[in-house]
Amino acid sequence: MMRRCTGKIVLLAALVMLVAACEDRNGPAAAQRELLSRQLVPTDKALAAIYLRSCRSCHTVAATGSPLTGDRAAWAPRMAKGMEVMLNSVISGFGGMPPLGLCMDCSPDQFESLIRFMAQTEHAP
Ligand code: HEC
Repeated sequence: MMRRCTGKIVLLAALVMLVAACEDRNGPAAAQRELLSRQLVPTDKALAAIYLRSCRSCHTVAATGSPLTGDRAAWAPRMAKGMEVMLNSVISGFGGMPPLGLCMDCSPDQFESLIRFMAQTEHAP
């Protein structure tokens, strides 16, 4: 009896977590974060052009599972890994992100500026 109950509780907890995860990507809060992310574009023209044709297509869509542009809370734990790790993730690809984040001609400096811009850790370049 006790074991059965525990099983149900575990299942219920898993379901609640699943719904919460879906809510995080699809709910009103996610829509709000998407709206914010879509208003942001790097001020530097060359960087803006790169951003608009590569990173932006995923990093403004919560359903991709990517940290959204300007969503500091989502970026903070990733940035805590250090810029070298961040650069490596982009260059080699990471999870749902293809290698080079779809920017085949980006230099490491440009990647770094794009990351800082998306994480909003300093003024947009
Ligand atoms: C095809 C979709 C896609 C594109 C295009 C894309 N990303 Fe991503 N990016 C993702 C996803 C999805 C994640 C989260 C992956 C995960 O945590 O599993 C991510 C995560 C990241 C991370 C965090 C990596 C880590 O180690 O936590 C950085 C940095 C990043 N992207 C930078 C960029 C830059 C810069 C560009 C443009 C040059 C870019 N991305 C383009 C989908 C994309």
